[in-house]
Amino acid sequence: MVITSETPVREIVLERPGAIPLLEELGIDYCCGGKHTLGEACSRRQLGVSTVLDMLARQQPQPSDTNWQTARLTELTQHIVEKHHAFTREQLRLLQEVAEKVQRRHGDRHPEIPEVYKAIAALIAETTHHFYCEENILFPYIGSLEEGEKPAQPPFFDTVDQPVTRMMMEHDQTGDELRHLRELTNNYQPPPDACTTFRALYRALDELERDLHQHIHLENNILFPRVLAIAREQR
Ligand SMILES: [Fe+2]
Ligand SMILES: [Fe+2]
Repeated sequence: MVITSETPVREIVLERPGAIPLLEELGIDYCCGGKHTLGEACSRRQLGVSTVLDMLARQQPQPSDTNWQTARLTELTQHIVEKHHAFTREQLRLLQEVAEKVQRRHGDRHPEIPEVYKAIAALIAETTHHFYCEENILFPYIGSLEEGEKPAQPPFFDTVDQPVTRMMMEHDQTGDELRHLRELTNNYQPPPDACTTFRALYRALDELERDLHQHIHLENNILFPRVLAIAREQR
């Protein structure tokens, strides 16, 4: 594939998953905002598109382990649950503990910390509900859809488009929360007087963001379009 300024960011990542770390480094949104062209995404970040095209051209294309565009959907949903849901749950649990400690020690001198703590609590509430819906309703339904079987339980929706649209709206909300956290934390740059725990908090938030971007990309750009296509064929 020849990448130009007109190529949608989502297409770049679908074709070259190895480009994800570079896009993360540059702050280019490839999950919720993946439909935008590379040119549009670069101007949002005030980056020169030709420089970014050069960087992409210099990258060695890396073979990704699994091609999620052709793998079985149940393999993909299992990968999402075991890798991304598990990581997010554990990381948020840890973040809440660390943020509480930092708030106790430094909250009075750093008013952003109580806000960070609140944002982590909001993310925990959102993802707990969201993951529950995916793991217990949508993903099992996708399994039956792929097998062409009647679902084990009658679904709570008329067509699968409804929960998919709902999940994508919730992904946008999570994207907004992550942007809010970036603003609060000055792009996860700890202040000069930050102690080790303070630094660990910002580093863990950065890791959470990277993982959530990859996770939302797999759902928005690969899983859901494939599910909608199968559902259309079966109608
Ligand atoms: Fe998910
Ligand atoms: Fe999701």
